[in-house]
Amino acid sequence: MKVLITGGAGYIGSTIASALEDTGHTPVILDSLITGKREFTRGRAFYEGDIDDSALLGRIFKEHPDIYAVIHCAALIVVPESTEKPYEYYQDNVAKSLELFRTLRDLGCKRLVFSSSASIYDVVPGFMVTESAPLKPSSPYARTKYMMEMILRDFCAAYGMRGIALRYFNPIGADPKMRTGLHVDSPTHILGRLVDVQLGKLDKFMVTGTDYSTRDGTGIRDYIHVWDLARAHVKAVEGFEQAFQRAGEPEDGYLVINLGTGRGVTVRELVTAFEKVTGKPLAQADGPARPGDVAGSFCNADTARNLLGWQAELSIEQGISDALKWGEMKDKVLKKG
Ligand SMILES: NC(=O)c1ccc[n+]([C@@H]2O[C@H](COP(=O)([O-])OP(=O)(O)OC[C@H]3O[C@@H](n4cnc5c(N)ncnc54)[C@H](O)[C@@H]3O)[C@@H](O)[C@H]2O)c1
Repeated sequence: MKVLITGGAGYIGSTIASALEDTGHTPVILDSLITGKREFTRGRAFYEGDIDDSALLGRIFKEHPDIYAVIHCAALIVVPESTEKPYEYYQDNVAKSLELFRTLRDLGCKRLVFSSSASIYDVVPGFMVTESAPLKPSSPYARTKYMMEMILRDFCAAYGMRGIALRYFNPIGADPKMRTGLHVDSPTHILGRLVDVQLGKLDKFMVTGTDYSTRDGTGIRDYIHVWDLARAHVKAVEGFEQAFQRAGEPEDGYLVINLGTGRGVTVRELVTAFEKVTGKPLAQADGPARPGDVAGSFCNADTARNLLGWQAELSIEQGISDALKWGEMKDKVLKKG
């Protein structure tokens, strides 16, 4: 199967490309490299450009008429930055995605998998969310994801397309074969920051937010190994039609699926797991929550199991140790470019 991945030079998109290749499929990458890395596209069909470039998409589909589905990962993703630069976020994530969906419709591409986010959920008592839990996106970034879900659903209902919105929880780790990983210089992702402390690039780890109503006051998340996440996309593409059959062929041609482990872990628990993996105490301090941060959630993963036949397999410790290994290799891999 050939699959177009927008944002395929990014952390998650490049890992999905590896997972597709490892199962005998062919990824085609479209990425503007606004944040992504050219090195992550090495050896792959790669088109450098923007998702709203309809002429480029026309060329991609002409050169790859056998593209079976599109996985739309391209986006700007930093929550605090989105509160400072809402224009850029709505422009890149919403306006350009809208154009992308229109172009895909015009090109007759009817299968779309969309990278959505657990950050659109409201905080609920007990913190566990199913796909029908109330939504309350609390940052411009999260609102872009929420809007795109609505747009995708309307496109599917009106234009005979089919879309699967995958709501990712908190990806950690790196490709276990170390082809790709988190590439940003100052990661806002929690594990990226933990690794930077371990590598001496940061003095100490700030626990951002300590008075939430969780078991220890720190934010609760569902940390999912990025390789498990990538495997879920392979399942979503391979079993695309079957997922709709299993869901009883919803009239609007649209599915929402949580991707997480089903286990809530607090920031302090993650730090403890990190110290267990490294065997050393970590320099840390408590600080206030960042703009847009919430207490968090973890997922009910039943829908993914029922519709995709997928569940997370890798442990949090494996995610931590792969992130550490990647942290040591990152500069070397990215310089080879
Ligand atoms: N990383 C997370 O914690 C997380 C959690 C939930 C959802 N997601 C979603 O997963 C997707 C991938 O995230 P990631 O962590 O890999 O981020 P990333 O920044 O590593 O990757 C995003 C990629 O999209 C590309 N891109 C951005 N705008 C583009 C445009 N207009 N045209 C072409 N390419 C463009 C960037 O160059 C980059 O390679 C995003 O949609 C994000 O919202 C991520």
